[in-house]
Amino acid sequence: MTVEFRLNGKTVTVEPRAGESLLETLRERCGIRSLKDGCSPQGQCGCCLALIDGSAKVTCAMTATSAAGREILTLEGLPDTDRHLFARAFAAAAGVQCGFCIPGIALRAKYLLDRHPSPSRDDIAQAIDVHLCRCTGYKKIVDAIELMARGRRGEAIPAPVADGGVGARLARYDAIRSVLGERPFVDDLDRPGLLHGALRLSDHPRARVRRIDTSRAKALPGVVAVVTAADVPGQRWYGLIEQDWPGFVAEGEEVRCVGDVVAAVAALDRHSAREAAALVDVEYDVLPAVLDPVASIAPGAPQVNPKHANLLSRSTICRGDADAALAASAHVVGGTWQTQRIEHLYLEPESALAEPLADGRLHLYTQGQGIFDDRRQVAAFLARSEDEIFVELVPNGGAFGGKEDMSVQAQTALLAQATGRPVKLTLSREESIRLHPKRHPIRMEYTVGCDADGRLTAVKARMIGDSGAYASVGAKVLERAAGHGCGPYRVPNVDIESVAAYTNNPPCGAMRGFGANQAHFAIEGCMDLLAKKTALDPWEIRWRNAVEVGDVFSTGQVLEKSVGIKKTLAAIKPHYDRARAEGRAVGIACGLKNSGIGNGAKEWGKARLVVEPDGTVSIYNGYTEMGQGLLTVLVQFAAEVTGLPAACFRPKVDSTYQLACGQTTGSRATLFGGRAVTSAAAKLRADLDAGLRLANLVGRVYAADVLVDDTTELGAPVARIKTHTSFGYATQMCVLDDRGRVAKIVAAHDVGRAVNPSLCEGQIEGSIHMGLGYALTEELVCDNGMPVTFKLRDIGVLRARDMPEVEVILVEDPEPEGPFGAKGVGEIGLVPTAAAVAGALEAFDGIRRYTLPMKDSPASRAMSVGRRSRS
Ligand code: FES
Ligand code: FES
Repeated sequence: MTVEFRLNGKTVTVEPRAGESLLETLRERCGIRSLKDGCSPQGQCGCCLALIDGSAKVTCAMTATSAAGREILTLEGLPDTDRHLFARAFAAAAGVQCGFCIPGIALRAKYLLDRHPSPSRDDIAQAIDVHLCRCTGYKKIVDAIELMARGRRGEAIPAPVADGGVGARLARYDAIRSVLGERPFVDDLDRPGLLHGALRLSDHPRARVRRIDTSRAKALPGVVAVVTAADVPGQRWYGLIEQDWPGFVAEGEEVRCVGDVVAAVAALDRHSAREAAALVDVEYDVLPAVLDPVASIAPGAPQVNPKHANLLSRSTICRGDADAALAASAHVVGGTWQTQRIEHLYLEPESALAEPLADGRLHLYTQGQGIFDDRRQVAAFLARSEDEIFVELVPNGGAFGGKEDMSVQAQTALLAQATGRPVKLTLSREESIRLHPKRHPIRMEYTVGCDADGRLTAVKARMIGDSGAYASVGAKVLERAAGHGCGPYRVPNVDIESVAAYTNNPPCGAMRGFGANQAHFAIEGCMDLLAKKTALDPWEIRWRNAVEVGDVFSTGQVLEKSVGIKKTLAAIKPHYDRARAEGRAVGIACGLKNSGIGNGAKEWGKARLVVEPDGTVSIYNGYTEMGQGLLTVLVQFAAEVTGLPAACFRPKVDSTYQLACGQTTGSRATLFGGRAVTSAAAKLRADLDAGLRLANLVGRVYAADVLVDDTTELGAPVARIKTHTSFGYATQMCVLDDRGRVAKIVAAHDVGRAVNPSLCEGQIEGSIHMGLGYALTEELVCDNGMPVTFKLRDIGVLRARDMPEVEVILVEDPEPEGPFGAKGVGEIGLVPTAAAVAGALEAFDGIRRYTLPMKDSPASRAMSVGRRSRS
């Protein structure tokens, strides 16, 4: 059937297949890239927004045929004056991070401003209610829309900061293209002869695969290849730590979760690929699933994963005699805290594109958090050398730890190798949720004592986390939970044990905070309980116990430098006192988070600065840009050191050079990547200082590889324990209104050195958004190993109008091991948040809550999570 409509002022005629969504038509047939697919066909993220006959509509929820005769407007069709204004406003306000959600929001803002030229902040938040942003916390988005409004009223607005080194609020690298939807994500890429891939996932959390029959799938018109485990030429099992995750489950093996891949299809179009994947016939012997981590490690439980016993890991920390100290303590408190499984819900689902090159190599476009790990694992999967795989990062639309493990890279590469053609494979939202690792649910039993003055005497804790079907980095998450089990406090006697267990639930792995969030919810709850027992103010008991330089951290590490926790407590104090004096319900919590993996890992920062013929300088590094702003701060380091303008530098992440650094994880990319760039830039600076100009240096490569290998394993019998390179510290307070809703969060964070204060604030604001969801509304509930919903609203991520006022206070206690004193800020923003909310709720209604999310609270009930008002 032929459909005709007007698109950005031009008449367009298309022939969509039956039932095709308007989003698919506009993206795939009309080449409109400002519309993104974050959740189709749910209509719940707003990334696919277009103006249709003047009304704002989510196009994934409309059929292409319904557009017949209508006038469609996207960002591409706006006048240049509007486009430039919108882009400048978002760049100047730092309202864009990964950028996946922003084109839709910018168009929504135009729709709002056309009708309401002077909206209040509440009006703006209300207007963007259908839009989900997982990165920013919305504050700077609202700032940007306010700037748009001013610009449209003819008022002057600040220009984005175009130049500057360390400390400047330099506009995000590539911000303008990101706002306009011109900066491609993987799914925006196209190639001549491109095939589309799709996966067939397991139907059960645990079952033996008796037979896989691909004949019906292969017979479907348009299908070019169907591959299964039998087609994998190399190592079918991969994994970041344990090689326990098969790219395909084979006949005769068990599927272990509902995200397991049984087959993959390449076809001429995405729809045919998905249809064919559904036609792969799989016969199973269904087995009872192991769903409870405690039952999983009990004797006699079926083994979930053939490569490892159900006990994935056990981490212990033992210092002093905790039992004796507790027995002698003036006050002892305790309880059991339980956290929930959390879905990352980055707005961009997983996607990869693999393209055979004329020289025989394979070009893999990935959005993973460690492109060299992707290359290593894909090469092994295909039985090829790593040199034969050229891997390139396409900066992703959010990751938060969920893109560390392989998702679709190996299957996509295999399809490209099998067909000899470029293949792109993008997951649907449902597939994404089924497949990638989550935040661990952890049960934590705590007993904590203090003396009569409120000084901590001992912490005893037992933790067990559900790691799901694959190891991922689950052992490290539980290790980190144990290591952060005492929070940022001085504790002379420590007895902590944490266990990670396999189950047939969706795998759990890295997610922003990485075990520290869970542990802080419990230890900060204990601090509140002890404050009551000792009749001390919650701020005061934290102040008395907060670590200082020379104190010993939970793991036994002596904290020798950059310990800013008391500075953050002091920064919060006036706000705290004022709110208490006003009679508000206030909660306070502290936190710390390692920067750098540590625990004995060898860690690298690697960089190459290359002077290009066009007068620019490429900055190659091995870490990933995922919205956190890494590429921007690397440019700032290079500009600071060389004295060259920031606009000179072009950051790049690919395998042109051997820059394997492992995953972009542990809040370490600024720390180690920044050190490498700083060091390489110093060599370029030396040449410039010698009188050479860039034109004389074309082709010159300035290299720096920084190795950090002085951390020690947890529990290692060494004289000088140093489990981590560095720590970030924070104090947050939560203020409720008179109805028990979260009115304000004040967050004071020691960031070492704010390389870019706007980006630092953005990381913390975005984290607080995630932390409030963690505290109050978010949970990925599973039933028999299957998420009970894939709907974005039901998962409970907060919307713009759910966000309270957030005030960020940046505290700088320089880190000597960091570039210009900087340390990581990407994760710590939500470490204290849930506990601060719990404290405020107890102050409000007298109920101490031990389980997340705290849905029984007035603060949770007040959250809309997008359930109302949708256009
Ligand atoms: S992709 Fe249409 S609203 Fe999410
Ligand atoms: S900037 Fe909004 S989802 Fe990343």
